[in-house]
Amino acid sequence: MEPVPLRRYLAANAVALAPSFAGLLILYWSGYLAGRPTLFAMAGIAVVTVLLVQRYLGSLARFARFVGELSDEREPVMPRLSFAPATEELATAAAQLSAGWRRQRASIDNLAASAQAIVDGLPDPLIAVDRSRRIVRTNLAARDLLGRAGAERDLSTMFRQPQLLAAIDGLLETADGNFTSADQAVVDFMLPGPPELDVVAHVRRLPRAAADGSLALIVLHDTTALRRAERMRADFVANASHELKTPIAGLAGFIETLRGPARDDTAARERFLGIMAEQADRMRRLVDDLLMLSRIEQHEHARPDTAIEIDRVLKGVLDLLQLKAGSRKVALELSVEPDLPAAVGDYDELTIVFQNLVDNALKYAKPNTTVRVSARPMGRDRIAVAVADEGDGIPANHLPRLTERFYRVDAARSRQLGGTGLGLAIVKHIVNRHRGRLDIQSTPGKGSTFTVMLPAAD
Ligand SMILES: Nc1ncnc2c1ncn2[C@@H]1O[C@H](COP(=O)(O)OP(=O)(O)O)[C@@H](O)[C@H]1O
Ligand SMILES: [Mg+2]
Repeated sequence: MEPVPLRRYLAANAVALAPSFAGLLILYWSGYLAGRPTLFAMAGIAVVTVLLVQRYLGSLARFARFVGELSDEREPVMPRLSFAPATEELATAAAQLSAGWRRQRASIDNLAASAQAIVDGLPDPLIAVDRSRRIVRTNLAARDLLGRAGAERDLSTMFRQPQLLAAIDGLLETADGNFTSADQAVVDFMLPGPPELDVVAHVRRLPRAAADGSLALIVLHDTTALRRAERMRADFVANASHELKTPIAGLAGFIETLRGPARDDTAARERFLGIMAEQADRMRRLVDDLLMLSRIEQHEHARPDTAIEIDRVLKGVLDLLQLKAGSRKVALELSVEPDLPAAVGDYDELTIVFQNLVDNALKYAKPNTTVRVSARPMGRDRIAVAVADEGDGIPANHLPRLTERFYRVDAARSRQLGGTGLGLAIVKHIVNRHRGRLDIQSTPGKGSTFTVMLPAAD
Protein backbone atom coordinates (compact mmCIF):
# COMPACT_ATOMS: atom_id res chain seq x y z
CA MET A 1 0.00 0.00 0.00
CA GLU A 2 1.38 3.40 -0.90
CA PRO A 3 2.26 5.51 2.19
CA VAL A 4 -0.06 8.34 3.22
CA PRO A 5 1.64 11.70 2.49
CA LEU A 6 3.29 13.08 5.64
CA ARG A 7 1.47 16.44 5.63
CA ARG A 8 -1.93 14.81 5.42
CA TYR A 9 -0.89 12.39 8.14
CA LEU A 10 0.22 15.18 10.49
CA ALA A 11 -2.87 17.25 9.75
CA ALA A 12 -5.20 14.32 10.48
CA ASN A 13 -3.39 13.61 13.77
CA ALA A 14 -3.54 17.27 14.75
CA VAL A 15 -7.31 17.43 14.05
CA ALA A 16 -7.92 14.23 16.04
CA LEU A 17 -5.78 15.30 18.98
CA ALA A 18 -6.91 18.96 19.20
CA PRO A 19 -10.19 18.53 21.23
CA SER A 20 -8.76 16.13 23.86
CA PHE A 21 -5.52 18.16 24.27
CA ALA A 22 -7.52 21.38 24.55
CA GLY A 23 -9.76 19.74 27.24
CA LEU A 24 -6.73 18.52 29.22
CA LEU A 25 -5.04 21.95 29.05
CA ILE A 26 -8.19 23.69 30.31
CA LEU A 27 -8.41 21.20 33.21
CA TYR A 28 -4.72 21.82 33.98
CA TRP A 29 -5.06 25.63 33.90
CA SER A 30 -8.13 25.58 36.04
CA GLY A 31 -6.19 23.57 38.61
CA TYR A 32 -8.25 20.38 38.44
CA LEU A 33 -5.33 18.41 37.11
CA ALA A 34 -1.68 18.44 38.20
CA GLY A 35 1.16 18.73 35.64
CA ARG A 36 2.28 15.12 35.69
CA PRO A 37 -1.08 13.43 35.19
CA THR A 38 -1.83 15.92 32.40
CA LEU A 39 1.38 15.00 30.60
CA PHE A 40 0.73 11.27 31.07
CA ALA A 41 -2.83 11.62 29.79
CA MET A 42 -1.64 13.61 26.78
CA ALA A 43 1.02 11.03 25.95
CA GLY A 44 -1.46 8.12 26.32
CA ILE A 45 -4.10 9.83 24.18
CA ALA A 46 -1.44 10.72 21.56
CA VAL A 47 -0.27 7.10 21.24
CA VAL A 48 -3.84 5.71 20.86
CA THR A 49 -4.91 8.50 18.47
CA VAL A 50 -1.85 8.07 16.26
CA LEU A 51 -2.62 4.38 15.94
CA LEU A 52 -6.31 4.96 15.17
CA VAL A 53 -5.57 7.74 12.67
CA GLN A 54 -3.09 5.54 10.88
CA ARG A 55 -5.61 2.73 10.45
CA TYR A 56 -8.34 5.17 9.47
CA LEU A 57 -6.20 6.76 6.79
CA GLY A 58 -5.20 3.28 5.59
CA SER A 59 -8.87 2.35 5.14
CA LEU A 60 -9.55 5.57 3.24
CA ALA A 61 -6.58 4.91 0.95
CA ARG A 62 -7.87 1.37 0.25
CA PHE A 63 -11.30 2.81 -0.51
CA ALA A 64 -9.81 5.34 -2.93
CA ARG A 65 -7.81 2.64 -4.65
CA PHE A 66 -10.90 0.40 -4.92
CA VAL A 67 -12.93 3.17 -6.60
CA GLY A 68 -10.02 3.87 -8.92
CA GLU A 69 -9.83 0.24 -9.92
CA LEU A 70 -13.58 0.14 -10.56
CA SER A 71 -13.30 2.90 -13.11
CA ASP A 72 -10.38 1.09 -14.75
CA GLU A 73 -12.92 -1.55 -15.94
CA ARG A 74 -11.41 -4.16 -13.65
CA GLU A 75 -13.51 -6.03 -11.15
CA PRO A 76 -11.53 -5.55 -7.89
CA VAL A 77 -12.22 -7.40 -4.63
CA MET A 78 -13.89 -5.18 -2.06
CA PRO A 79 -11.27 -4.39 0.64
CA ARG A 80 -11.90 -4.48 4.39
CA LEU A 81 -12.88 -0.98 5.42
CA SER A 82 -14.06 -1.48 9.01
CA PHE A 83 -11.96 1.37 10.40
CA ALA A 84 -13.47 4.10 8.29
CA PRO A 85 -17.16 4.52 9.07
CA ALA A 86 -19.51 4.82 6.05
CA THR A 87 -16.79 4.00 3.51
CA GLU A 88 -17.99 0.41 3.29
CA GLU A 89 -21.46 1.60 2.19
CA LEU A 90 -19.88 4.06 -0.21
CA ALA A 91 -17.70 1.32 -1.70
CA THR A 92 -20.71 -0.98 -2.18
CA ALA A 93 -22.64 1.82 -3.89
CA ALA A 94 -19.65 2.57 -6.15
CA ALA A 95 -19.32 -1.12 -7.05
CA GLN A 96 -23.03 -1.27 -8.01
CA LEU A 97 -22.71 1.90 -10.04
CA SER A 98 -19.78 0.51 -11.94
CA ALA A 99 -21.49 -2.86 -12.55
CA GLY A 100 -24.51 -1.04 -13.99
CA TRP A 101 -22.28 1.09 -16.17
CA ARG A 102 -20.47 -1.98 -17.43
CA ARG A 103 -23.77 -3.70 -18.30
CA GLN A 104 -24.86 -0.64 -20.26
CA ARG A 105 -21.54 -0.48 -22.04
CA ALA A 106 -21.88 -4.15 -22.98
CA SER A 107 -25.37 -3.66 -24.38
CA ILE A 108 -24.26 -0.58 -26.37
CA ASP A 109 -21.28 -2.55 -27.74
CA ASN A 110 -23.71 -5.35 -28.61
CA LEU A 111 -26.03 -2.98 -30.44
CA ALA A 112 -23.15 -1.47 -32.40
CA ALA A 113 -21.84 -4.92 -33.29
CA SER A 114 -25.25 -6.16 -34.47
CA ALA A 115 -25.78 -2.96 -36.49
CA GLN A 116 -22.43 -3.56 -38.20
CA ALA A 117 -23.30 -7.24 -38.68
CA ILE A 118 -26.56 -6.25 -40.41
CA VAL A 119 -24.76 -3.75 -42.63
CA ASP A 120 -22.07 -6.34 -43.40
CA GLY A 121 -24.77 -8.86 -44.26
CA LEU A 122 -26.09 -6.70 -47.11
CA PRO A 123 -25.14 -8.24 -50.44
CA ASP A 124 -24.61 -4.84 -52.10
CA PRO A 125 -21.61 -2.63 -51.30
CA LEU A 126 -22.54 0.23 -48.95
CA ILE A 127 -20.38 3.28 -48.27
CA ALA A 128 -21.12 6.12 -45.85
CA VAL A 129 -19.42 9.49 -46.37
CA ASP A 130 -19.27 12.54 -44.13
CA ARG A 131 -19.90 16.20 -44.91
CA SER A 132 -16.52 16.57 -46.61
CA ARG A 133 -17.01 13.40 -48.73
CA ARG A 134 -14.61 11.28 -46.65
CA ILE A 135 -15.47 7.59 -46.31
CA VAL A 136 -16.43 6.94 -42.68
CA ARG A 137 -18.00 3.52 -42.94
CA THR A 138 -18.15 0.57 -45.36
CA ASN A 139 -19.70 -2.87 -45.28
CA LEU A 140 -18.08 -6.19 -46.15
CA ALA A 141 -19.22 -6.13 -49.78
CA ALA A 142 -17.78 -2.62 -50.23
CA ARG A 143 -14.47 -3.68 -48.72
CA ASP A 144 -14.38 -6.71 -51.02
CA LEU A 145 -15.02 -4.47 -53.99
CA LEU A 146 -12.76 -1.56 -53.12
CA GLY A 147 -10.07 -3.09 -50.97
CA ARG A 148 -9.40 -2.49 -47.30
CA ALA A 149 -7.93 1.00 -47.33
CA GLY A 150 -11.35 2.66 -47.53
CA ALA A 151 -11.87 4.45 -44.25
CA GLU A 152 -10.89 8.10 -43.83
CA ARG A 153 -10.13 8.59 -47.51
CA ASP A 154 -11.86 10.89 -49.88
CA LEU A 155 -14.38 9.11 -52.06
CA SER A 156 -12.69 10.44 -55.20
CA THR A 157 -9.65 8.24 -54.52
CA MET A 158 -11.96 5.24 -54.93
CA PHE A 159 -14.23 6.47 -57.71
CA ARG A 160 -13.10 8.58 -60.60
CA GLN A 161 -16.59 8.82 -62.08
CA PRO A 162 -17.37 12.57 -62.32
CA GLN A 163 -21.16 11.95 -62.53
CA LEU A 164 -21.13 10.04 -59.24
CA LEU A 165 -18.94 12.57 -57.43
CA ALA A 166 -21.03 15.45 -58.74
CA ALA A 167 -24.25 13.80 -57.55
CA ILE A 168 -22.79 13.26 -54.07
CA ASP A 169 -21.42 16.80 -53.87
CA GLY A 170 -24.84 18.07 -54.88
CA LEU A 171 -26.53 16.16 -52.07
CA LEU A 172 -23.93 17.17 -49.49
CA GLU A 173 -24.25 20.84 -50.45
CA THR A 174 -28.02 20.87 -50.13
CA ALA A 175 -27.54 19.43 -46.64
CA ASP A 176 -26.26 22.85 -45.60
CA GLY A 177 -29.59 24.58 -45.74
CA ASN A 178 -31.54 24.24 -48.92
CA PHE A 179 -33.76 21.28 -48.00
CA THR A 180 -36.20 21.76 -50.81
CA SER A 181 -34.18 19.86 -53.39
CA ALA A 182 -34.12 16.06 -53.71
CA ASP A 183 -32.33 14.04 -51.04
CA GLN A 184 -31.44 11.11 -53.26
CA ALA A 185 -29.90 10.42 -56.63
CA VAL A 186 -29.35 7.43 -58.91
CA VAL A 187 -26.22 7.29 -61.06
CA ASP A 188 -25.29 4.67 -63.66
CA PHE A 189 -21.62 4.20 -64.31
CA MET A 190 -18.97 1.73 -65.38
CA LEU A 191 -16.43 0.48 -62.85
CA PRO A 192 -13.18 -0.30 -64.65
CA GLY A 193 -12.07 -3.91 -64.27
CA PRO A 194 -11.02 -6.45 -64.48
CA PRO A 195 -13.76 -7.47 -64.61
CA GLU A 196 -15.45 -4.34 -65.86
CA LEU A 197 -18.76 -3.87 -64.04
CA ASP A 198 -21.98 -2.05 -64.88
CA VAL A 199 -23.00 -0.37 -61.64
CA VAL A 200 -26.02 1.62 -60.46
CA ALA A 201 -25.28 3.80 -57.42
CA HIS A 202 -28.18 4.84 -55.19
CA VAL A 203 -27.06 7.88 -53.21
CA ARG A 204 -29.17 9.06 -50.30
CA ARG A 205 -28.63 11.92 -47.87
CA LEU A 206 -29.48 11.23 -44.23
CA PRO A 207 -31.82 13.71 -42.47
CA ARG A 208 -28.90 14.67 -40.20
CA ALA A 209 -25.34 13.51 -39.67
CA ALA A 210 -24.98 10.22 -37.74
CA ALA A 211 -22.75 9.88 -34.66
CA ASP A 212 -19.80 8.79 -36.82
CA GLY A 213 -20.28 11.75 -39.13
CA SER A 214 -22.07 9.79 -41.91
CA LEU A 215 -24.20 12.17 -43.93
CA ALA A 216 -24.72 10.36 -47.23
CA LEU A 217 -25.13 6.65 -47.97
CA ILE A 218 -24.04 5.15 -51.27
CA VAL A 219 -25.33 1.70 -52.22
CA LEU A 220 -23.81 0.15 -55.32
CA HIS A 221 -25.78 -2.38 -57.30
CA ASP A 222 -23.98 -4.57 -59.82
CA THR A 223 -26.15 -4.73 -62.95
CA THR A 224 -23.59 -6.42 -65.21
CA ALA A 225 -25.53 -9.70 -65.43
CA LEU A 226 -28.81 -7.86 -65.94
CA ARG A 227 -27.35 -5.75 -68.74
CA ARG A 228 -25.82 -8.80 -70.37
CA ALA A 229 -29.16 -10.65 -70.20
CA GLU A 230 -30.90 -7.59 -71.68
CA ARG A 231 -28.37 -7.43 -74.49
CA MET A 232 -28.69 -11.15 -75.12
CA ARG A 233 -32.47 -10.94 -75.28
CA ALA A 234 -32.31 -8.02 -77.70
CA ASP A 235 -29.72 -9.87 -79.82
CA PHE A 236 -31.86 -12.99 -79.75
CA VAL A 237 -34.97 -11.23 -81.00
CA ALA A 238 -32.95 -9.47 -83.71
CA ASN A 239 -31.31 -12.74 -84.77
CA ALA A 240 -34.55 -14.74 -84.79
CA SER A 241 -36.31 -12.05 -86.83
CA HIS A 242 -33.43 -11.91 -89.25
CA GLU A 243 -33.37 -15.70 -89.67
CA LEU A 244 -37.10 -15.72 -90.43
CA LYS A 245 -36.96 -12.66 -92.66
CA THR A 246 -34.58 -14.23 -95.17
CA PRO A 247 -36.78 -17.20 -96.17
CA ILE A 248 -39.90 -15.02 -96.07
CA ALA A 249 -38.28 -12.56 -98.46
CA GLY A 250 -37.26 -15.49 -100.68
CA LEU A 251 -40.79 -16.92 -100.71
CA ALA A 252 -42.33 -13.53 -101.47
CA GLY A 253 -39.88 -13.06 -104.33
CA PHE A 254 -40.71 -16.43 -105.89
CA ILE A 255 -44.46 -15.90 -105.51
CA GLU A 256 -44.05 -12.57 -107.33
CA THR A 257 -42.10 -14.24 -110.14
CA LEU A 258 -44.56 -17.12 -110.46
CA ARG A 259 -47.45 -14.69 -110.75
CA GLY A 260 -45.64 -12.53 -113.28
CA PRO A 261 -42.82 -13.39 -115.66
CA ALA A 262 -42.74 -17.16 -114.97
CA ARG A 263 -46.51 -17.58 -115.08
CA ASP A 264 -46.44 -19.94 -118.06
CA ASP A 265 -42.94 -21.38 -117.68
CA THR A 266 -43.56 -24.92 -116.44
CA ALA A 267 -39.90 -25.80 -115.93
CA ALA A 268 -39.21 -22.63 -113.91
CA ARG A 269 -42.35 -23.19 -111.84
CA GLU A 270 -41.21 -26.69 -110.83
CA ARG A 271 -37.77 -25.42 -109.89
CA PHE A 272 -39.13 -22.44 -107.91
CA LEU A 273 -41.68 -24.57 -106.06
CA GLY A 274 -38.83 -26.86 -105.02
CA ILE A 275 -36.85 -23.91 -103.62
CA MET A 276 -39.98 -22.55 -101.94
CA ALA A 277 -40.64 -25.89 -100.26
CA GLU A 278 -37.04 -25.84 -99.03
CA GLN A 279 -37.45 -22.31 -97.62
CA ALA A 280 -40.72 -23.24 -95.94
CA ASP A 281 -38.99 -26.27 -94.47
CA ARG A 282 -36.22 -24.05 -93.12
CA MET A 283 -38.77 -21.76 -91.48
CA ARG A 284 -40.52 -24.74 -89.94
CA ARG A 285 -37.24 -26.05 -88.52
CA LEU A 286 -36.44 -22.64 -87.12
CA VAL A 287 -39.85 -22.23 -85.49
CA ASP A 288 -39.67 -25.81 -84.16
CA ASP A 289 -36.27 -25.11 -82.59
CA LEU A 290 -37.42 -21.79 -81.13
CA LEU A 291 -40.47 -23.43 -79.58
CA MET A 292 -38.34 -26.28 -78.26
CA LEU A 293 -35.89 -23.82 -76.69
CA SER A 294 -38.61 -21.85 -74.97
CA ARG A 295 -40.28 -25.04 -73.72
CA ILE A 296 -37.04 -26.32 -72.20
CA GLU A 297 -36.29 -22.93 -70.65
CA GLN A 298 -39.70 -22.83 -69.03
CA HIS A 299 -39.10 -25.94 -66.96
CA GLU A 300 -35.31 -25.78 -66.75
CA HIS A 301 -35.42 -25.54 -62.93
CA ALA A 302 -37.38 -28.83 -62.61
CA ARG A 303 -34.91 -31.66 -62.69
CA PRO A 304 -36.02 -34.86 -64.48
CA ASP A 305 -36.05 -37.95 -62.27
CA THR A 306 -36.61 -41.03 -64.45
CA ALA A 307 -33.98 -43.74 -64.88
CA ILE A 308 -33.11 -43.91 -68.58
CA GLU A 309 -31.14 -46.61 -70.37
CA ILE A 310 -28.79 -44.54 -72.44
CA ASP A 311 -27.98 -47.31 -74.93
CA ARG A 312 -31.64 -47.38 -75.97
CA VAL A 313 -31.60 -43.63 -76.55
CA LEU A 314 -28.39 -43.85 -78.56
CA LYS A 315 -29.60 -46.80 -80.69
CA GLY A 316 -32.79 -44.88 -81.49
CA VAL A 317 -30.82 -41.80 -82.53
CA LEU A 318 -28.40 -43.79 -84.68
CA ASP A 319 -31.23 -45.66 -86.43
CA LEU A 320 -32.80 -42.33 -87.29
CA LEU A 321 -29.60 -40.85 -88.68
CA GLN A 322 -28.22 -43.92 -90.46
CA LEU A 323 -29.73 -42.78 -93.75
CA LYS A 324 -28.14 -39.35 -93.50
CA ALA A 325 -24.78 -40.95 -92.60
CA GLY A 326 -25.03 -43.19 -95.65
CA SER A 327 -25.77 -40.29 -97.97
CA ARG A 328 -22.72 -38.42 -96.63
CA LYS A 329 -20.52 -41.53 -96.83
CA VAL A 330 -19.79 -41.42 -93.11
CA ALA A 331 -19.77 -44.55 -90.95
CA LEU A 332 -21.65 -44.45 -87.64
CA GLU A 333 -20.26 -46.53 -84.79
CA LEU A 334 -21.74 -47.10 -81.34
CA SER A 335 -19.94 -48.56 -78.34
CA VAL A 336 -21.55 -48.84 -74.93
CA GLU A 337 -19.54 -50.23 -72.02
CA PRO A 338 -21.16 -53.25 -70.39
CA ASP A 339 -22.72 -52.61 -66.96
CA LEU A 340 -23.32 -48.97 -67.84
CA PRO A 341 -25.64 -47.60 -65.13
CA ALA A 342 -28.88 -45.93 -66.17
CA ALA A 343 -28.91 -42.14 -66.39
CA VAL A 344 -31.34 -39.89 -64.55
CA GLY A 345 -33.15 -37.98 -67.25
CA ASP A 346 -35.93 -37.41 -69.72
CA TYR A 347 -36.04 -39.84 -72.66
CA ASP A 348 -37.31 -37.39 -75.28
CA GLU A 349 -34.96 -34.59 -74.24
CA LEU A 350 -31.90 -36.85 -74.20
CA THR A 351 -32.91 -38.08 -77.67
CA ILE A 352 -32.91 -34.45 -78.84
CA VAL A 353 -29.45 -33.90 -77.29
CA PHE A 354 -27.80 -36.82 -79.07
CA GLN A 355 -29.73 -36.22 -82.29
CA ASN A 356 -28.25 -32.73 -82.43
CA LEU A 357 -24.73 -33.83 -81.56
CA VAL A 358 -24.67 -36.74 -84.02
CA ASP A 359 -26.35 -34.60 -86.69
CA ASN A 360 -23.63 -31.95 -86.27
CA ALA A 361 -20.91 -34.60 -86.36
CA LEU A 362 -22.31 -36.01 -89.62
CA LYS A 363 -22.65 -32.54 -91.12
CA TYR A 364 -19.12 -31.45 -90.32
CA ALA A 365 -17.36 -34.83 -90.79
CA LYS A 366 -15.15 -35.40 -93.82
CA PRO A 367 -16.45 -38.07 -96.22
CA ASN A 368 -15.20 -41.64 -95.66
CA THR A 369 -14.55 -41.12 -91.98
CA THR A 370 -16.26 -42.53 -88.91
CA VAL A 371 -18.42 -40.80 -86.31
CA ARG A 372 -17.97 -42.64 -83.01
CA VAL A 373 -20.55 -42.53 -80.27
CA SER A 374 -19.43 -44.09 -76.99
CA ALA A 375 -20.93 -44.33 -73.53
CA ARG A 376 -19.02 -45.20 -70.35
CA PRO A 377 -19.36 -44.79 -66.61
CA MET A 378 -17.47 -41.85 -65.12
CA GLY A 379 -16.51 -41.95 -61.47
CA ARG A 380 -19.13 -43.48 -59.21
CA ASP A 381 -22.18 -41.39 -59.99
CA ARG A 382 -21.96 -40.15 -63.57
CA ILE A 383 -21.94 -41.48 -67.06
CA ALA A 384 -20.27 -39.86 -70.06
CA VAL A 385 -21.43 -40.04 -73.67
CA ALA A 386 -18.95 -38.84 -76.28
CA VAL A 387 -19.69 -38.03 -79.93
CA ALA A 388 -16.44 -37.82 -81.88
CA ASP A 389 -16.00 -36.90 -85.53
CA GLU A 390 -13.07 -36.60 -87.88
CA GLY A 391 -14.12 -33.30 -89.37
CA ASP A 392 -12.77 -29.79 -89.79
CA GLY A 393 -12.67 -29.10 -86.09
CA ILE A 394 -13.43 -25.75 -84.45
CA PRO A 395 -10.84 -23.01 -83.76
CA ALA A 396 -10.38 -22.57 -79.99
CA ASN A 397 -11.57 -18.94 -79.92
CA HIS A 398 -15.08 -20.06 -80.98
CA LEU A 399 -15.47 -22.77 -78.35
CA PRO A 400 -16.68 -20.62 -75.42
CA ARG A 401 -19.52 -19.10 -77.46
CA LEU A 402 -20.59 -22.20 -79.40
CA THR A 403 -23.66 -22.90 -77.25
CA GLU A 404 -25.03 -19.35 -77.62
CA ARG A 405 -28.19 -19.09 -79.69
CA PHE A 406 -27.48 -18.49 -83.37
CA TYR A 407 -23.73 -18.58 -82.82
CA ARG A 408 -22.04 -20.34 -85.74
CA VAL A 409 -18.44 -20.59 -86.86
CA ASP A 410 -19.54 -20.22 -90.48
CA ALA A 411 -23.13 -18.99 -90.76
CA ALA A 412 -23.41 -19.42 -94.53
CA ARG A 413 -22.17 -22.99 -94.37
CA SER A 414 -24.48 -23.80 -91.46
CA ARG A 415 -27.51 -22.46 -93.38
CA GLN A 416 -26.47 -24.31 -96.49
CA LEU A 417 -26.33 -27.53 -94.43
CA GLY A 418 -29.83 -26.83 -93.13
CA GLY A 419 -28.78 -25.69 -89.67
CA THR A 420 -30.66 -23.18 -87.54
CA GLY A 421 -27.77 -22.28 -85.24
CA LEU A 422 -29.93 -23.29 -82.26
CA GLY A 423 -28.94 -26.95 -81.90
CA LEU A 424 -26.13 -26.55 -79.38
CA ALA A 425 -28.13 -23.95 -77.41
CA ILE A 426 -30.90 -26.54 -77.04
CA VAL A 427 -28.32 -29.20 -76.06
CA LYS A 428 -26.84 -26.87 -73.43
CA HIS A 429 -30.23 -26.07 -71.87
CA ILE A 430 -31.29 -29.71 -71.71
CA VAL A 431 -27.95 -30.72 -70.17
CA ASN A 432 -28.31 -27.90 -67.62
CA ARG A 433 -31.78 -29.09 -66.73
CA HIS A 434 -30.32 -32.57 -66.14
CA ARG A 435 -27.62 -31.03 -63.88
CA GLY A 436 -25.12 -32.47 -66.31
CA ARG A 437 -22.15 -30.98 -68.14
CA LEU A 438 -21.21 -30.46 -71.79
CA ASP A 439 -17.54 -30.60 -72.70
CA ILE A 440 -16.23 -29.67 -76.15
CA GLN A 441 -12.77 -30.66 -77.33
CA SER A 442 -11.69 -29.83 -80.85
CA THR A 443 -8.55 -29.77 -82.93
CA PRO A 444 -8.84 -27.79 -86.17
CA GLY A 445 -8.15 -30.07 -89.11
CA LYS A 446 -8.50 -33.24 -86.99
CA GLY A 447 -11.99 -33.28 -85.55
CA SER A 448 -14.18 -32.58 -82.56
CA THR A 449 -15.47 -34.51 -79.55
CA PHE A 450 -18.62 -33.40 -77.74
CA THR A 451 -19.01 -35.13 -74.37
CA VAL A 452 -22.20 -35.06 -72.30
CA MET A 453 -21.89 -36.02 -68.64
CA LEU A 454 -25.09 -37.04 -66.89
CA PRO A 455 -25.90 -38.09 -63.35
CA ALA A 456 -26.24 -41.88 -63.03
CA ALA A 457 -29.18 -43.55 -61.30
CA ASP A 458 -28.09 -45.60 -58.27
N1 LIG B 1 -19.06 -31.46 -84.92
C1 LIG B 1 -18.77 -30.20 -85.29
N2 LIG B 1 -17.68 -29.91 -86.01
C2 LIG B 1 -17.41 -28.65 -86.38
N3 LIG B 1 -18.18 -27.58 -86.06
C3 LIG B 1 -19.27 -27.81 -85.33
C4 LIG B 1 -19.63 -29.12 -84.90
N4 LIG B 1 -20.77 -29.02 -84.18
C5 LIG B 1 -21.10 -27.71 -84.17
N5 LIG B 1 -20.21 -26.98 -84.85
C6 LIG B 1 -20.24 -25.51 -85.03
O1 LIG B 1 -21.08 -24.97 -84.05
C7 LIG B 1 -22.11 -24.20 -84.66
C8 LIG B 1 -23.36 -24.28 -83.85
O2 LIG B 1 -23.91 -25.57 -83.87
P1 LIG B 1 -25.47 -25.74 -83.80
O3 LIG B 1 -25.95 -24.93 -82.67
O4 LIG B 1 -25.80 -27.19 -83.81
O5 LIG B 1 -25.98 -25.02 -85.11
P2 LIG B 1 -26.18 -25.59 -86.57
O6 LIG B 1 -25.81 -27.03 -86.57
O7 LIG B 1 -27.60 -25.37 -86.83
O8 LIG B 1 -25.33 -24.75 -87.44
C9 LIG B 1 -22.22 -24.75 -86.04
O9 LIG B 1 -22.73 -23.79 -86.92
C10 LIG B 1 -20.79 -25.09 -86.37
O10 LIG B 1 -20.11 -23.92 -86.77
MG1 LIG C 1 -26.78 -28.43 -85.22
